[in-house]
Amino acid sequence: MKPVKIGILGLGTVGGGTVNVLQRNADVVRGRAGRDVIITRASAQNLTRSRICDTQGIQLTTDPFEVVNDPDIDIILELMGGLSPAKELVLQAIANGKHVITANKALIALHGNEIFKKASERGVMVAFEAAVAGGVPIIKAIREGLSGNQIEWLAGIINGTGNFILTEMRDKGRDFNDVLAEAQALGYAEADPTFDVEGIDAGHKLTILASIAFGIPLQFDKVYTEGITQITRDDVAYAEELGYRIKHLGIARKTPQGIELRVHPALIPERRLIANVDGVKNAVLVYGDAVGPTLYYGAGAGAEPTASAVVADVVDVVRALTSDPENRVPHLAFQPDAIVEQLVLTSEQFTTAYYLRLTAEDKPGVLAEVTKILALHQISIEAIIQKEPQPNKTTLPVIMLTQKTLEKEMNAAIAEIEALSSITGKVNRIRLETLG
Ligand code: HSE
Repeated sequence: MKPVKIGILGLGTVGGGTVNVLQRNADVVRGRAGRDVIITRASAQNLTRSRICDTQGIQLTTDPFEVVNDPDIDIILELMGGLSPAKELVLQAIANGKHVITANKALIALHGNEIFKKASERGVMVAFEAAVAGGVPIIKAIREGLSGNQIEWLAGIINGTGNFILTEMRDKGRDFNDVLAEAQALGYAEADPTFDVEGIDAGHKLTILASIAFGIPLQFDKVYTEGITQITRDDVAYAEELGYRIKHLGIARKTPQGIELRVHPALIPERRLIANVDGVKNAVLVYGDAVGPTLYYGAGAGAEPTASAVVADVVDVVRALTSDPENRVPHLAFQPDAIVEQLVLTSEQFTTAYYLRLTAEDKPGVLAEVTKILALHQISIEAIIQKEPQPNKTTLPVIMLTQKTLEKEMNAAIAEIEALSSITGKVNRIRLETLG
């Protein structure tokens, strides 16, 4: 059979890693896909810079449109990232009848509904395993492995850079910016690293996971996102004292009131396997009604782990090249007519437990005032620790864990606590998830 010809857009960390894996593992790819797979063309912004891969035998250009318009190419790998011109290139490739594989989570989260519609009309595949959790085959696991289940919730550490920063801060007391710079040098961080540390990247990934888990359209604008920049070393230490770790989670949960889509730091019990996922590793815990909890773990970023997912998509696409488009695995796990809008809750409608850290004056009655406010909002306290005042200070830190409550009630209670004259500054609030 004729070889399948690949064109690659972008030869950076992921593109370079993909060239290396496709070349090194050409025999196993042929054995699994049933055809030779060869890279014929690639585009890169700068053709003279040094690369992690050998591009001998690949026709290079600075114009990615030359690649998508090449009539000899069967499959386009969009590994350049960003929204534009990635979106225009993907749509052009689809219009040209080419299959597309992308690692671009922002593109899928923001424009996937349109891209998949166009791809279905044209009868081509768009695969995106590498868009979520790097080398962890989480898309395939939910879309295919768990297709007999109703997914009730999922929770994941889905940003490697953020997890790397939190781990290094906790284990080595390293400075936030210093660890971030290392993550950038290692090729983990996004081009704009605020996407990593402010939860945007995790929000893109959660959008995709929620869609394939619940059969809802991709809707990034409904995801609540909060980053890790407000987490202090004190919070990490107090959480540990109480038996918890702080992780940055993406959570999608079905509740009787609607769907929660949220990305934020959370305390999780240290006995949970996922609490021990460190460094650039990702893990996603998925709860299906039939299977119960399942956990998927591995490298969430980096050249070859991400290439592993891209090349797996190449094999899948090559295997399905001659299949009837109606009988292929649907892009978003559900057939297009089975994808329906469901109510997505606002953050005030979330129900969760909390860790609160407040700075209180060291005098009688202060805790009574705070607990009275919580009680008036029907918020039960699970644990309280009062620390020693720091030398020469008349204030002391108070740490509380609460039981689950409606976020609206917690917001109101926090505003009232902050207004007390005996409380200094802001109340630091971190959500707490038992993941049971
Ligand atoms: N910046 C992302 C991360 C890369 O750190 O997880 C992989 O999507």
